[in-house]
Amino acid sequence: MDFNPVSEAKEIEDEIIAWRRDFHMHPELKYEEERTSKIVEEHLREWGYSIKRVGTGVIADIGKGTKTIALRADMDALPIQEENDVPYKSKIPGKMHACGHDAHTAMLLGAAKIIAEHKDGLNGKVRLIFQPAEEGGNGAVKMIEGGALEGVNAIFGFHVWMDLPSGVIGIRDGPFLAGAGIFGGRITGKGGHGASPHETVDPIPIMAETVLAFQTIVSRNVNPVETGVVSVTSVHGGTAFNVIPEEVEFKGTFRFFKPEVGELIQRRMREILEGVTKAHGAKYELNIEELTPPTINSKEMADFARKVAQKYGLKYGDVPPTMGAEDFAFYLQKVPGAFLALGIRNEEKGITYPHHHPRFDVDEDVLYLGTAMEVALAFEFLR
Ligand code: NI
Repeated sequence: MDFNPVSEAKEIEDEIIAWRRDFHMHPELKYEEERTSKIVEEHLREWGYSIKRVGTGVIADIGKGTKTIALRADMDALPIQEENDVPYKSKIPGKMHACGHDAHTAMLLGAAKIIAEHKDGLNGKVRLIFQPAEEGGNGAVKMIEGGALEGVNAIFGFHVWMDLPSGVIGIRDGPFLAGAGIFGGRITGKGGHGASPHETVDPIPIMAETVLAFQTIVSRNVNPVETGVVSVTSVHGGTAFNVIPEEVEFKGTFRFFKPEVGELIQRRMREILEGVTKAHGAKYELNIEELTPPTINSKEMADFARKVAQKYGLKYGDVPPTMGAEDFAFYLQKVPGAFLALGIRNEEKGITYPHHHPRFDVDEDVLYLGTAMEVALAFEFLR
């Protein structure tokens, strides 16, 4: 590479911040990213990228060659009323970029601009993925269905990170964010008079037994050095003090880092329901939906990112895993890569509120570092 990505990113820092503020003032919820994606597409076209649209998502390619590296940003905001008093406060009531996806989009736009200026030095292809609907919409799946990973050899993405000091790049091997799923169902017995339980199959004690037995999945079945969560968050049944209901409905969520733990949790929930209901002569229904797999970074790609950060003097360190989930996981199921964190916590500026909080904000002064790292990853991967 015949230029320094850090100084070039610093040169366009004002532009990156201006984009971020513009997106911040005009937040759009999942699958409604019309304005944001239009601005992104217009810039990319102007800079010479070839564009493929996938709904409100944008896939942009530049360069020639056999190797392709993909860089991804998410563009959607959250249904939250912003409480920050800043000049770039959200102009849309009830909507806010409270997870920093505005910053992700702006950082990747900055990288797009620098990469385009140096495209003759690229020994391969760079693919930029600006995706919709990360927040509970699995926009990544739509992008993959739309061809985002075709021909891609490696993928990287950034998330701004409140748990890391400003400017530090968090790089982790293996599981980083948790896999998440939801479950729901019902236990059906035989209703009747509350005074004549012997003539009924009462689903309420059967439900109670099931909820308690579910507590043994993580404590007794999951290897204690691994981790998982099973939470029954809703149980509904019955209408009157003297009526034994016909059925009880329930709902909940589960979390895990290793796919095999996720599978174990699901299998044990089925077995427990099967056994407990059979013992009491009741029936059950169980629907499990795995929403997002765990986000698992490739060790090789995490090491590559460390080497790149080191080479360009970018501060980096480890970042602890979290039970939150991220749909970047879907890309990593198909292509090796790493999801990186960019520290944005700045106590002096009062930037300490957690993600999804109405007073969440990012330390804009470090966004250029994310841009620099993206550019560096692209050129170093395509050497
Ligand atoms: Ni997010």
